[in-house]
Amino acid sequence: MRFADQWTSSTVTAIRDLAPSIREIVLQPDTPMPSWRPGSHINVSLLIDGQPQTRSYSLVGVRPEGELRIAVRLADDSRGGSRAMWALRPGARIEISHPISLFEIDWSRRDYCLIAGGIGVTPMLGIAAALSRKNATLTMHYAVKSHREAVLRDELVDLLGDRLRLHASDEGARLDLDATFRALPADAVAVLCGPLRMLDAARQAWSDAGRAACDLCFETFGSSGRLPTSEFRVRVKASGAEILVPKDRSMLDALNAAGYEVIADCRRGECGVCAIDVAAVEGEIDHRDVFFSADQRTGNTKMCPCVSRAQGIVTVDTLYRADRV
Ligand code: FES
Repeated sequence: MRFADQWTSSTVTAIRDLAPSIREIVLQPDTPMPSWRPGSHINVSLLIDGQPQTRSYSLVGVRPEGELRIAVRLADDSRGGSRAMWALRPGARIEISHPISLFEIDWSRRDYCLIAGGIGVTPMLGIAAALSRKNATLTMHYAVKSHREAVLRDELVDLLGDRLRLHASDEGARLDLDATFRALPADAVAVLCGPLRMLDAARQAWSDAGRAACDLCFETFGSSGRLPTSEFRVRVKASGAEILVPKDRSMLDALNAAGYEVIADCRRGECGVCAIDVAAVEGEIDHRDVFFSADQRTGNTKMCPCVSRAQGIVTVDTLYRADRV
């Protein structure tokens, strides 16, 4: 995995709502971006509650003249990122990173199965277009709560025709991952972007179908968990201090704001750089990363505070030094 470290200024050139809670934002970078792989995302620098923070958004297809298109879902449990993005207006200036891809896709295969869950459709448009250009055999499954939320559907239909399968759960048309994976040719690759619950189900179904783990490529959203997002407390083992993690803030930010320095990189639960030792749990940890294995998550000895949360109190071991607090 690589993470972007080059930034440039950009201007918001257009905004439109694709659905009641999904907004498309077009950005024009001040300087041309290097070429980027389908499925790439950019990091966006935002000031949230006076603190500089970054959020990641997938690039939606390819735009003319070097423009970049992203789509932002206004999250009910926003930690401030989607609210800040929705507050942008045309002409706004914003710092963005160079595009970077975390998908490890083997582009040399013959058969592909693309799976998008909700706003996870955004990187899939570019991936589907690239595979179509290569004349690869592909089917895309797009799972949404309702047809109304199926953003980018028209573009996908234009691109894929009947190779696009829409699964709207309000119509009872749920995606059957077991049947889908079992029906794939032996050397097929699956590429998934969706919430953590979907990824967990896909990993299980992929394994049950006897397929190689490396043939399932994925990205997920750090904000999706198994438990409702609520405030919780972190106790620092060395000092005994207790820090409140509000509903709209990450544990990483809460620890850093309180002076307990925790380093981070991706802030998406993917790299493991922020991983922190857990000494005790009074309640339950909601692991929202994709870095740890299922067994490691069950063990509850470490967690990624950039995305993972808890209910109750989590006691952690940080690189605490009294002179820093
Ligand atoms: S910073 Fe990458 S997993 Fe937390």
